[in-house]
Amino acid sequence: MEVFAAKGIVTQEHINQFKDIVGEKFILFDAENLQHYSHDETEHLSYLPEVVVKPRTVAEIAAIMKICNKERIPVTPRGAGTGLSGGALPHLGGVLLSTERMNSIIEIDERNLQVTTEPGVITEVLQNAVKEKGLFYPPDPSSRGSCFIGGNIAENSGGPKAVKYGVVKDYVLNLEVVLPSGEIIMTGANVLKNSTGYNLTQLMVGSEGTLGIVTKIVLKLIPLPKYDLLMLAPFASLEKASEAVSAIFRAGFTPSALELVEIDALQIVSKFVDSTAVPVNDSIAAHLIVEVDGNNMDVLMADMEAISSLLEEFEAGEIFFADDAQQKAELWKLRRRVAEAVKTSGYTIEEDTVVPRAELPALIRGVKKLGKEHGFKAVCYGHAGDGNLHIRIKKEGTENSFGDEEMTKSLRALFDLVYSLGGTISGEHGIGLIQKGYMDIVFAEANLRLMREIKKAFDPNNILNAGKIFDLD
Ligand code: LAC
Ligand code: ZN
Repeated sequence: MEVFAAKGIVTQEHINQFKDIVGEKFILFDAENLQHYSHDETEHLSYLPEVVVKPRTVAEIAAIMKICNKERIPVTPRGAGTGLSGGALPHLGGVLLSTERMNSIIEIDERNLQVTTEPGVITEVLQNAVKEKGLFYPPDPSSRGSCFIGGNIAENSGGPKAVKYGVVKDYVLNLEVVLPSGEIIMTGANVLKNSTGYNLTQLMVGSEGTLGIVTKIVLKLIPLPKYDLLMLAPFASLEKASEAVSAIFRAGFTPSALELVEIDALQIVSKFVDSTAVPVNDSIAAHLIVEVDGNNMDVLMADMEAISSLLEEFEAGEIFFADDAQQKAELWKLRRRVAEAVKTSGYTIEEDTVVPRAELPALIRGVKKLGKEHGFKAVCYGHAGDGNLHIRIKKEGTENSFGDEEMTKSLRALFDLVYSLGGTISGEHGIGLIQKGYMDIVFAEANLRLMREIKKAFDPNNILNAGKIFDLD
């Protein structure tokens, strides 16, 4: 991993001011900590910040931002550092602002089915807390056991449940935000409908920490479904598996998860977590994981039966039904750890393409063809029900796509294909640092101009996560 040095704008005087605000203990600049905060999960990229600041309150963040805005110090906000597009990489040095101490769930409002939380709460912790009250917060990125809800807001994260329940944006009602100026705003109201002016709440969702720092989050909850059923269907052909996906919806079903995992990925992850739960052999090219959920077990059983008959029409092999909670957990563990596992076996470059669902077979065919033409190996997996395909790429001698001329060419060809199929370049991981060079493929100059103007309106001095989503002006 090549480590890029920090740029050198933060002075001892600045550090003293930060210490006065958050306390000495929460200002870090020793080599080990700077190294720790220099990377997230994106490729093998690493950029050292000059100082790490860990505030506890919104007032502390506002005070830090006032200093940084006045002194033009770059600020990179960071949640748990599980991002895959480089949103939390401090590529300009400056201040790395970690939200890890802001980790309280403020209130679960059972009367209104809402939760108010700080950004540094781990997503799964939040899910479990509301679950105890019979409530459900569905967005469940693979990293939910370690990622923060604040990071999920920044990236508009998804996960397997999105296919039925939607992504983060569908649950965010209101946000407290510190602007780059240090002003503190609420973006909306804690209501289910809102036609009151521009929707600043939704503008913040997915803005990747470039417009403001989210310090409080109000989320909508729904009643927790009582039951779920899970099955695993093997296919001899990756294309057939992907064709079956859209057929399930056309037949009138809405699974609560519909995931595809190509066999190479499954082989790697099975070894990685030391599991034999899923069959891997030469006659299998991919598996579909199908989950249904709801409150009526008879209906769910009937749906599972009908879906499995449908899958057989697409030449599915022997379908495995997970019988109990442990089998389900084992299957989900395998699925959730694919990204991490394949990364350690050399697939360091991850793409997050999304196409209209029925175009999935064409995308997969295209990916394999491009791999042959451009000399890379690709494994595909992801949220097939959403048309959201993660493509993990391995190429001898190329760890990172960012800054690599040849790989950039290959990815442009891939994204041209995605765009020609009516899709776009990120479904849930965001643009961050590594995908910004491809925005011209999917947006006209006028779109990009509007986005830049929005950035300017929020952050005229370009101090907050600058150089993410677009290049610096
Ligand atoms: C997944 C993450 C990488 O779906 O988005 O596993
Ligand atoms: Zn995903």
